Amino acid sequence: MTVTIVGAQLGDEGKGGIVDLFGEPADVVARYQGGDNAGHTVVHEGVEYKLSLVPSGAVRGKIGVLGNGCVVNPRTLFDELDTLADRDLDPDVRVARRAHVIFPYHRVLDGIEEDVKSETDDEVGTTGRGIGPTYEDKAGRRGLRIGDLTDEDVLRRKLEYVVPQKRALAEDVYGVDVGEEFDIDALFEEYREYGERLADEDMLVNAGDFLAERLDAGDNVIFEGAQGTLIDIDHGNYPYVTSSNPTAGGAATGTGLGPDVIGGGEIIGIVKAYLSRVGSGPMPTELAGVEGDTPGYEGNAGEREEALATEIREAGGEYGTVTGRPRRVGWLDMPILRHATRASGFSGLAVNHIDTLAGFDELKIGHSYTLDGEELLTIPATTEEWGHCEPNLRTFEGWDDADWEAVAADGYDALPANAQTYLDYISDELDTPIYAVGVGPGREQSVVRERPFE
Ligand code: GDP
Ligand code: IMO
Ligand code: MG
Repeated sequence: MTVTIVGAQLGDEGKGGIVDLFGEPADVVARYQGGDNAGHTVVHEGVEYKLSLVPSGAVRGKIGVLGNGCVVNPRTLFDELDTLADRDLDPDVRVARRAHVIFPYHRVLDGIEEDVKSETDDEVGTTGRGIGPTYEDKAGRRGLRIGDLTDEDVLRRKLEYVVPQKRALAEDVYGVDVGEEFDIDALFEEYREYGERLADEDMLVNAGDFLAERLDAGDNVIFEGAQGTLIDIDHGNYPYVTSSNPTAGGAATGTGLGPDVIGGGEIIGIVKAYLSRVGSGPMPTELAGVEGDTPGYEGNAGEREEALATEIREAGGEYGTVTGRPRRVGWLDMPILRHATRASGFSGLAVNHIDTLAGFDELKIGHSYTLDGEELLTIPATTEEWGHCEPNLRTFEGWDDADWEAVAADGYDALPANAQTYLDYISDELDTPIYAVGVGPGREQSVVRERPFE
């Protein structure tokens, strides 16, 4: 069977940890979108692994697949594999021949565009990994796919077509001097070698065929979403989004399997018990704000909100896994979660970071918004309108810190009563059961109510 893991908010909900938690019976873990913009954390035997491209199951010996919907930077991929090898891990990772390749010029162009936009405070706050420019080339039918790296003639011909365009864009449109990132011969040599290594190490697959065969043979497969619903290119707050579909539909197009396969399994929405955001865009329940990322930041949220934001940020370790930037934090936002639940059809939820919220007298949840005098239960379609939404906050009584491992061992009823009230409210509003509750970063720090593969 299949289990699809989808970020219900703005990324960094703790997807990697849940893939790990539910992943024991899985044979294969497949990513279906995104690239090395993701930063997924898995704690295994006390050791923390931060993975960008290698699917989270790989640290436990599962086969990892990067599906056709992914954008793959071979440099990052091999660096990550080499780093894992230094830690005595030798993950079996397969890469779809149809996945698109991130080249160094994509990263340069990502940076240039962000710089230009920053002059008018319009930057997205991307991870700088070249994600947008690579998906742009995919949609523009000028991208190179992983399979192209193994055919020297095709590789050279395609580079000769596309690189001069990219160089002209950088030099003539943006007036930026470029270096070897735009040198056809250097790119050809380096990427031809990646193609050879991918082929030599038997890493190339037709993702759809490969996964279908594994499923036919009775394997359990996890589809590991990266990013989150509100940064989905279609369902997120465009243009403050990534360039792919983290929502569950992406798991079909990004692997080559039918929607019936994805929908026939479990689709689990991963929820952080509050909200965090890296980069720009509206966030109606935001506390305080982060200079450079929060639109219109003036730093005058007030002492109480600053203190709350700092406390949650520190307690939750809310600093970007990829970029190290402080994440914006805010109260849980139900309109976001209702939107996410509809867009992906969650069959279950995992709610993380209940421990992070311990110790506060009271907590708030944005139950709905008010926009132009009207109450909204879900998010409006335009980002401008979303930016004008005022949250209607409900107050919940807080809970004390606890021996979370003991709570995890004893089960849901051992959670503080106020935490249960908070969780039951979420589950009732979304009409979706909670399968797991995160009470710490480790695998043993999770309250499990339902194991989706069992
Ligand atoms: P992902 O991108 O969705 O996989 O999430 P990240 O790995 O970027 O960020 C989640 C962070 O929170 C990581 O440092 C996790 O180890 C940590 N984490 C996940 N679940 C919990 C939890 O329930 N409690 C605490 N305290 N930390 C958690
Ligand atoms: P995981 O998988 C949080 C955000 C960036 C930026 C926007 C576009 O760890 O949850 P991009 O580089 O993708 O073009 O940036 O999306 N972003 C993420 N935010 N978690 C992520 O991944 C993210 N991947 C991209 O901060 O606002
Ligand atoms: Mg992350």
